Amino acid sequence: MKIDRYERIWMGGVGGVLLFFFGTLANAAIRHGFHPPSHVETINPRGVFQSPQFRQQGVRVDEGGAVHVTVVGMMFAWLPGELALPAATPVTFHLTSVDVIHGFAIVGSNGQSMLIPGYVSQFTTSFQPGEYLITCNEYCGIGHHQMAGKLRVVPKAEWRPPAVAAAPVDGGGHAAH
Ligand code: CUA
Repeated sequence: MKIDRYERIWMGGVGGVLLFFFGTLANAAIRHGFHPPSHVETINPRGVFQSPQFRQQGVRVDEGGAVHVTVVGMMFAWLPGELALPAATPVTFHLTSVDVIHGFAIVGSNGQSMLIPGYVSQFTTSFQPGEYLITCNEYCGIGHHQMAGKLRVVPKAEWRPPAVAAAPVDGGGHAAH
């Protein structure tokens, strides 16, 4: 089959662009650990602050010693706005939004996820020591640029789990204010 010279050039160009695109995807996935989320969990977006999972935001350590972070995104803040975590330790993030779609992004790490009202986003990652900026990378309204937070990652030996607040008594009629 005879292929015109110019068509050959175009085919080569398109092939090169495709290779480049797939290469960047492979690079992000393999070298930087970016993966599509695979966790599907739903929540009533109006009941986030009453839900057992999101009633308290921030860092906690479970019975097995695993570190969890719970963050709520809202127009226009992250709750909580500051986090402190141990380095080189797997940390599982649980995130949701109470209003519109936000993009939770820990700049300079592979820790990021879209927050969709009605869904709980979850990912697990670990960090190098340092200070990280947390931004919103999904345009969410007039105060989008104000959705900034801070993550401080300290060597594991220096990190102390946050003091655990007294567990709320079940059925004690704790209405959110
Ligand atoms: Cu939240 Cu942009």
